[in-house]
Amino acid sequence: MNVLEKVRDTKKYLISKMDQSPTIGLVLGSGLGVLADEIEQPVIIPYDEIPHFPVSTVTGHAGQLVIGRLRGKVVIAMQGRFHYYEGHSIEAVTYPIRIMKAIGVEQLIVTNAAGGINNKFQAGDLMLIQDHLNLTGQNPLIGPNLDEFGPRFPDMTEAYSKSLQSLAKSVAVEHGVNLVEGVYAGMLGPSYETPAEIRFLNTIGASAVGMSTVPEVITARHSGVEVLGISCISNLAAGISPNVLTHDEVMETTEKSKQQFLKLIKEIITA
Ligand code: 6GU
Repeated sequence: MNVLEKVRDTKKYLISKMDQSPTIGLVLGSGLGVLADEIEQPVIIPYDEIPHFPVSTVTGHAGQLVIGRLRGKVVIAMQGRFHYYEGHSIEAVTYPIRIMKAIGVEQLIVTNAAGGINNKFQAGDLMLIQDHLNLTGQNPLIGPNLDEFGPRFPDMTEAYSKSLQSLAKSVAVEHGVNLVEGVYAGMLGPSYETPAEIRFLNTIGASAVGMSTVPEVITARHSGVEVLGISCISNLAAGISPNVLTHDEVMETTEKSKQQFLKLIKEIITA
């Protein structure tokens, strides 16, 4: 079965389960899945029940789609995402984004936990992603182009929508949420970076670093879906942090900044 046939299959399955069509997609990163718990009258579908969906393995990711209303808007949330380092193919990592587009999503909010590189950042900060550096050595669009979704050579000038960035900034000011801004460097993982790698990333203009988001954003932009990206700075990166890096620290800090994160995303959706 080719990708288009799979997408058609998955779409049919999801449409049979949903009672309303979402226009906003949410990808919830490590520790940030709680947002989906606030979706009203949710239709919850575990990934392993969805035809052609990969299955998530990392801790802190529930692995389900949650479809319903958040502040009156119909949304589809991924509670847990797929990472390339888990051993999934790059097509599998981005398959849910194809599905979101296919069922009518026009705007995508991607979130992640990231390591802070900018020396003004603190663990717990929320960062508006202005742009990214694709340092994964991968691209989800490799292979025959899916003309039904988008062009062979998609433009990436506004990978992250300028108008959604302005909206996020004004919402943050209005609701007293501290929101820093910067460039997200997407790495393959799963090892964290060395201090030398972090110095390199700093030199080339990265403000934060993580192991997700870039493949999903490229796929969304390929098909014209507008993107807003928010990183939760869960820790400072190697050589900047006095501590060694652990996934537990990542989860603990996201726990602490969760309330601000929830407020920001909900107010953005409402705006
Ligand atoms: Cl320091 N690096 C990467 N690659 N991902 C992270 C991180 C650091 N902190 C949270 N996620």
